[in-house]
Amino acid sequence: MLASLLGSMAGFLGQGGGFWLPEAASKTAEPVDALFNFVLWICIFFFVLICVLMILFVMRFRRQRPDEEALSQVEHNSALEITWTVIPLALAIAIFWMGFKGYMDLATPPANSMGVQVQAQKWSWLFSYPNGVSAAELHVPEDTPVKLTMSSSDVLHSFFVPAFRIKQDVVPGRYTTVWFHPTRTGEFQVYCTEYCGKGHSDMLSKVIVHSRTDYDKWMDEEGNFIDKMPAPEAGAKVFQKYGCKQCHSVDGAGGTGPTFKGLWGIDQPLTTGAKVKVDENYVRESILQPQAKIAAGYEPVMPTFQGRMNDKEIGVLIEYLKTLK
Ligand code: CUA
Repeated sequence: MLASLLGSMAGFLGQGGGFWLPEAASKTAEPVDALFNFVLWICIFFFVLICVLMILFVMRFRRQRPDEEALSQVEHNSALEITWTVIPLALAIAIFWMGFKGYMDLATPPANSMGVQVQAQKWSWLFSYPNGVSAAELHVPEDTPVKLTMSSSDVLHSFFVPAFRIKQDVVPGRYTTVWFHPTRTGEFQVYCTEYCGKGHSDMLSKVIVHSRTDYDKWMDEEGNFIDKMPAPEAGAKVFQKYGCKQCHSVDGAGGTGPTFKGLWGIDQPLTTGAKVKVDENYVRESILQPQAKIAAGYEPVMPTFQGRMNDKEIGVLIEYLKTLK
């Protein structure tokens, strides 16, 4: 029975993924899984050993009659004491060595890594490439090491890709890095794993690993979509890309910020009691300096998009807003 139990547990373990973690899809997963399984199997082994011995000893050495005296009092056993010191010490050193080596490897991106900037904000991710292209999902070519340089516009977030076994805090006012080396194509879930407010559990994205040719094609399309699409359609893409939908609905539903439906052209009441006409200048100002004029009934929580959203993108976003009647 024990053998079959251990056998079925073994099915949950290893690189195949399953019960504990999704199937590994990055070279960075190998040392993590190796150490995790090593520690897990040590725990299972000693848990079973100790429980079995405990039950055997309780049965074998229990007091049989009320007046029975203890047979002997063992005070010292050098061989046993050395054994239970040396074996755990060797195991602890092995665990430390695997952990230390794995940590150093995870902290050191290969020199030929492709660099991508990551900006976290409440509650979305933005991935920017050296050629100026940016996207809400991280697209990378297969079998290429990727180094992420990450920062936050507001509060602490944490970048977590279970299939790659990588997790790193994203901190306002400084850069942190993490790297991975995707081993197969596919889509892999990105989580924010540091509680960052109301939309934390919605702060999701994907890593999309393409073949080399598909990646080049994606990059070409992504770099030129504003010139190739009708402006309102391109604006809808910009709206998606920068995570605007996390706070602004387009169907009239409430949110952290005002809905975009029917917003264009109205006289918007402000927290100061004044009113402002929702036109090109007001929308542009609200994107670049969100705290300048706060709509009545809302908190001043929007991060600035200064330096991230360019003029072309603001232009098509305004065209999209105009269509939301
Ligand atoms: Cu960002 Cu939780």
